[in-house]
Amino acid sequence: MKIFEELESEVRSYARNFPRVFHKAEGEYIYDENGKQYIDFLSGAGALNYGHNHPVLKKALLDYIQDDGITHSLDLHTAAKRDFMEAFRTHILQPRKMDHRMMFTGPTGTNAVEAALKLARKITKRTHVVAFTNGWHGQTLGALSMTANSHHRNGAGLTLAGAHRIPYDGYLGDHVDTTEYLDKVLTDTSSGVDLPAAVIVETVQGEGGVNYCSREWLQNLSRVCKKHDVLLIIDDIQAGCGRTGRFFSFEEAGIQPDFITLSKSLSGYGLPCAVVLFKPELDVWSPGEHNGTFRGNNHAFVTARATLDEFWANDDFAASVREKGAYIAERLDAIVEKYGEGNFNAKGRGMFQGINCVNGEIAGKIAHEAYTRGLIIETSGTNDEIIKLLCPLTIQQDALVKGIDIIEASVKVVCSTMDEFPEDSCYFDEVILQEKAIHPGAQPLDGQKAW
Ligand SMILES: Cc1ncc(COP(=O)(O)O)c(C=O)c1O
Repeated sequence: MKIFEELESEVRSYARNFPRVFHKAEGEYIYDENGKQYIDFLSGAGALNYGHNHPVLKKALLDYIQDDGITHSLDLHTAAKRDFMEAFRTHILQPRKMDHRMMFTGPTGTNAVEAALKLARKITKRTHVVAFTNGWHGQTLGALSMTANSHHRNGAGLTLAGAHRIPYDGYLGDHVDTTEYLDKVLTDTSSGVDLPAAVIVETVQGEGGVNYCSREWLQNLSRVCKKHDVLLIIDDIQAGCGRTGRFFSFEEAGIQPDFITLSKSLSGYGLPCAVVLFKPELDVWSPGEHNGTFRGNNHAFVTARATLDEFWANDDFAASVREKGAYIAERLDAIVEKYGEGNFNAKGRGMFQGINCVNGEIAGKIAHEAYTRGLIIETSGTNDEIIKLLCPLTIQQDALVKGIDIIEASVKVVCSTMDEFPEDSCYFDEVILQEKAIHPGAQPLDGQKAW
């Protein structure tokens, strides 16, 4: 362990909560060097939707390497890229009646966000982009200006420009449709809000605390964008690739976003790969205008193509995600009911769910307790108050049951050591209290919304 403390930058983060040296992983399990097994509910922060080293993906990759397949090619045409694009069109775009173009950006999610923002600005010749409270879009400067978290924004070292911040669905309580506010300020030429190039939004705010918008809110947002000729960017980097029970997280809303960003689980194997999809008429790039050395990772194309053939040729896999999602929701609701004393609540969609534990201290203790019992799970939200379940979508039922049993046992232990729940631990609770005062029968802010 000493080498990490001596040589690795203080910026390291996840490693601090799970101070082990990991060296093997398979499916939903990860093992440390002593052979201790952990169930992985972190899944590379959503980069491992199909688990670790899925055998079908591994075989495709090993065969490709064995055959001296091209590893690096800038953006030259390669057979690996062609096969991936063909599979993407066949299994993803065509069945959804989408004709979006594919732009391969630098390898990580934030690169896709940067490219989408740049293209939206180029098309509209406008500078501002509307982003939402608690949104998370990456750490490079353009994407960081869209990201809401002050801890990360403060690291920028210069003024973050170009975003206009609007309350996300539920931020002002369940009875305020914040798209009406957006419509109003874009209609009123004296609102002081300039017409933006685009709106960028997550349907489920993963890092922001597993806040998710309602289907209706998303439809309204899409309508407002169309009405004002503003481009809609859905950042599906964490919620996409099946996490919510469909390939794209917005599918049930029946909207056709102008842009979609994908990364994380696109390769399915943890290999870096990012793409921006946009409607063909928006493809106004001139050749090489947005460039980069690592655009298109052929190894990632090979495994990404294998995920499409293996999981997305029909609805079976997605249906299994929805089924497991329903089981997770049921279990989390029961845990909240049993131990939360009215303070905890469960939230999320599909296999993207969490428990709001009132404050970061309690959530951190629960996550740590779970770790000692063999479960790796992270927290998210403004104050890290949300226990965030991101298990592989391919998880076997027995491991899913065991993982949630560990969460339940950890919640029980931590709650039993507390004298009482803190009163006003986070902003959300204040909003819930205000909401209850205005609408006595109202559900808490994070009450489950139908999708
Ligand atoms: C919705 C969303 N967008 C963008 C990003 C940035 O992706 P990356 O960390 O790969 O740059 C993330 C990362 O968590 C994300 O969740």
